[in-house]
Amino acid sequence: MSAPPAVRKLFVTTALPYANAAFHVGHMMEYIQADIWVRFQRMRGHQVHFVCADDAHGAPIMIAAEKAGITPQAFVAAIAAGRQQYLDGFHISFDNWSSTDAPENHALSKDIYLALRRNELITTRTVEQFFDPVKAMFLPDRYIKGECPKCGAKDQYGDSCEVCGAVYTPTALRNPYSTLTGATPVRKESEHYFFKLSDPRCVEFLSQWTQQGHLQTEVLNKISEWFKTDEDGHGGLADWDISRDAPYFGIEIPDAPGKYFYVWLDAPIGYLASLKNHFDKGGAKALGEPRTFDEFMADPATEQFHFIGKDITYFHTLFWPAMLHFSGRKTPTNVFVHGFITVKDEKMSKSRGTGISPLRYLEIGMNAEWLRYYIAAKLTAKVEDIDFSPEDFVARVNSDLVGKYVNIASRVAGFVHKHFAGQVLPITDSQFAKASIDRLQALAGPNSDLERELTYQYDAFEGLPDPVLMNSLRSWADELASLYEQREFSKAVRAIMDLADLVNKSFDFAKPWELAKTDQLAKLNAVCLATLNGFKLLTIYLSPILPELTAAAARFLNVASQRWVDIDSPIRGGHRISEYKHLMQRVDPAMLEALLAPPAPPALLPGGEAIAPEIAIADFARLDLRIAKIVAAERVEGSTKLLRLSLDIGEAKPRNVFSGIQSAYAPEDLVGRLTVMIANLAPRKMKFGLSEGMVLAASHADEKAQPGLYLLEADAGAAPGLRVR
Ligand code: MSP
Ligand code: ZN
Repeated sequence: MSAPPAVRKLFVTTALPYANAAFHVGHMMEYIQADIWVRFQRMRGHQVHFVCADDAHGAPIMIAAEKAGITPQAFVAAIAAGRQQYLDGFHISFDNWSSTDAPENHALSKDIYLALRRNELITTRTVEQFFDPVKAMFLPDRYIKGECPKCGAKDQYGDSCEVCGAVYTPTALRNPYSTLTGATPVRKESEHYFFKLSDPRCVEFLSQWTQQGHLQTEVLNKISEWFKTDEDGHGGLADWDISRDAPYFGIEIPDAPGKYFYVWLDAPIGYLASLKNHFDKGGAKALGEPRTFDEFMADPATEQFHFIGKDITYFHTLFWPAMLHFSGRKTPTNVFVHGFITVKDEKMSKSRGTGISPLRYLEIGMNAEWLRYYIAAKLTAKVEDIDFSPEDFVARVNSDLVGKYVNIASRVAGFVHKHFAGQVLPITDSQFAKASIDRLQALAGPNSDLERELTYQYDAFEGLPDPVLMNSLRSWADELASLYEQREFSKAVRAIMDLADLVNKSFDFAKPWELAKTDQLAKLNAVCLATLNGFKLLTIYLSPILPELTAAAARFLNVASQRWVDIDSPIRGGHRISEYKHLMQRVDPAMLEALLAPPAPPALLPGGEAIAPEIAIADFARLDLRIAKIVAAERVEGSTKLLRLSLDIGEAKPRNVFSGIQSAYAPEDLVGRLTVMIANLAPRKMKFGLSEGMVLAASHADEKAQPGLYLLEADAGAAPGLRVR
């Protein structure tokens, strides 16, 4: 057996998700992949710092926040507050979660930029771009639409036509307009900052770095395309535009007022910032790392790994290593690129009805570890897409995970509790052990993969039953470890399930129910002990994928939680197991129907209306609701519906509001009452004057059929002007 490897120091990240939406199943797939790898490393006794953060900056987030009527900081904080339920729900074991808007990232981004500038890798150039004159803002391409220059189709985006497929630049659009204001954009020049990726030093460094075994073959192939120049010298690595003009939600560029780092400049630096935040908070010390962030990152032995999806390869394999190298920092040890997950072979769409929502998955009571298992069973080290297929999901979870692995525990538990009062006995019958060798060799068959594993090494397992079974299971340890290390999870799962088959077969072959019936208790004991040990090894092997299930299995076995080295401390005679509680339910296919079905049409409530489509807290925050005191009320000449209300909300003069409540209230009954109004509603010009808001009242959807109006009332003591939230 090989000596345990020295303790590795690992810094591991997943891509930083944009803080403008909740997680989808693609994010969960990435986190599950990285989490399995990280848990495996921890089981091996290595030190891992596994961090992530929200990617907070950029124009889309700034614009979304503005639409929601809140600051970008508040917008991002609201998204961040929703993250934990997903991470906990799917057992993702990040050591830290931060934000690219955190102070650490502002500081590190500036440091790295200044180091690049000292290295003469920053340059400026004038760029002409579309500018929205109403918003006084340069427009990212995605906010420009117009008519396709080729086929004339209306409302096409600035880069390509969805109707005829033509590809062009935004300036080629006919009758372009800003999707933000509808204004016709004008062309305007501005000075931009560039990172000189075309500098010979960068080209030289990257052509070496990319060949140093950091990258997957498919990634290398992509990169060699990016490096290629044509005969005229076009193509190849181009300088990278790293600045954006105010207004922008981002980090200000030092010595460049009104200029901000483009979001992709500071986003990967967020990896370092989150790690630094983790160190500064004492998180690394808690993991046995006494050094500071700077010391840790200066150590050449520290390894740095990034898990990412294929769409962001360019940023991570070219810009990022170059930024790090030329600012005097450690470059990634490896960038692990994965493909995309599709659902029933369809690309995920954000619109309702397709894809699967991770939260809905949990809400309908599906077990998080089913998904972890399923994804593991599909993932390879290649940049391949994987598909979520409901039938396949049910089959793998029910037949393999539950039917093969979980089943072993439930089968053996009954015998141990019934015949040995929960405590297996020391082995006395070595004849039985010897006999098992022939049996297993017969079982495995001449063409079985496992045949070569079935070598007799009885000495190593002195005192244990069924040395062949144990040996066979144990002999896979190094291979499985290397499959985990290489992220070949689907191969690992397949091998583990084959081993589970072997344990089941061996159990069946021994016919323990007959041994019990005929009182051959020594043999029955040996079978149980072998099976418990088989289950224990499988449990260790599956631990990175199924942390919760294997922890429950370890409790059943009454052994400490699994480290990889525990494969060499078998359960011996005399050991007592715990009571067996069901470890895992089978998937009910109806759950998958519920998961994938478009949400049922909402039911009508007594008010005659269904609940409106879901909104985010940010949407609610846009409404400014205030306590209003009705200081005057009167009928409106010429209207049978309206009352004119004067509402005091603590402003210099009361608001004038026309409200359609004449049928339900006499004006004199209203004066002095406290109610609730929308104070930030755009004023509306009516025949009778300007209405400066709205009071809130309840009514049936069909007011004619079900008349009745009920004005909201605030409890006594609420001061006019208090916000309702
Ligand atoms: N904010 C950037 C990353 C900055 S890293 C310094 C970003 N965010 S993202 O939210 O769009 O994507 C986050 C990660 O999810 C990326 O690695 C992306 O490839 C991955 N995925 C997005 N959709 C996916 C699938 N359908 N399947 C698997 N992963 C997918 O990009
Ligand atoms: Zn077109």
